[in-house]
Amino acid sequence: MTQRIFSGVQPTGNLHLGNYLGAIRNWVALQDQYECLFCVVDLHAITVWQDPDALRKSTREVAAALIASGIDAKKHIIFNQSQVSGHAELAWIFNCVARLGWLGRMTQFKEKAGKDQEAASVGLFAYPNLMAADILLYKGTHVPVGEDQKQHLELARDIAQKFNHDYKKDVFPVPEPLILGSATRVMSLKDGTSKMSKSDPSDLSRINMTDDTDTIVRKIKKAKTDPDLLPENAAGLEGRPEARNLLGIYAALADVTMDDAIAEFAGQQFSALKGRLSDVAVASLAPIQEEYTRLLADKAQVDAVLADGAERATALAEPVLREVQDVIGFLRPKKAR
Ligand code: TRP
Repeated sequence: MTQRIFSGVQPTGNLHLGNYLGAIRNWVALQDQYECLFCVVDLHAITVWQDPDALRKSTREVAAALIASGIDAKKHIIFNQSQVSGHAELAWIFNCVARLGWLGRMTQFKEKAGKDQEAASVGLFAYPNLMAADILLYKGTHVPVGEDQKQHLELARDIAQKFNHDYKKDVFPVPEPLILGSATRVMSLKDGTSKMSKSDPSDLSRINMTDDTDTIVRKIKKAKTDPDLLPENAAGLEGRPEARNLLGIYAALADVTMDDAIAEFAGQQFSALKGRLSDVAVASLAPIQEEYTRLLADKAQVDAVLADGAERATALAEPVLREVQDVIGFLRPKKAR
């Protein structure tokens, strides 16, 4: 069977280095081995309130970032979820497969809903069912997941198994997680203990996908350090979050291991690391930034990629939906659709 990757990304605006090194870059690396669908999950986004103009804008931004980062939209598929109606259809069916108790155990719902669960949308509760539908609509076999989505993927596996079991037919593969060893948790440049975030009030805390060369260099120069020399070994990073963060970013961008990065700068000043980090950051990010900025100004091109992606995704989804409808016992005219 073909190995097919499905991955979803929320349409969030103001993408930064954390989004790139934490997810997007790893997807770029998967393209050679798998057939990939990369989906901007706008249906998931509206489980909490989204301003319509902001949603349109960030959907395009994420799509542009994927293209600019090097995902081949001709060979693979980049699209936004709401353009392929099968996601919503299959999600409804999965609402009837998953049990309330399964969803009640989802830690992300509890976090996102906060104290007032009664006020959360029904969609927020059913969110993992839609995620299962995303993957299984294409009979996805592998899903790159970070720590925070492991439990949701587990649920998708449970849904696939229960569906197959209830209808006594092996319709869905049970999707496997692809744990990406190389995913880097990028922390704020101003505080090594908090995640790099688009909502940090200080723009110096992050490297945005839209930052030009001068800005990247300046932000690295101003990044927080500590007074000591860089450590000789990994144990020496204990209690030194800024050193760990800068070395981690360097290792990721230079494509070396953390141990190699530590060895390279052992006993040196932060300024040596910052100099090299600036070089590799500019070399790898500047071309992406340029293409990203160009695409943000060319909405028509981004929209065309999304439309083409949706068309091809729909073609893949159609036979799966038909199979599901038949298995469930939904009558449909034999030659329609
Ligand atoms: N829930 C994922 C997140 O917030 C996004 C997502 C939606 C997803 N559908 C998916 C990820 C399917 C992997 C597979 O990051």
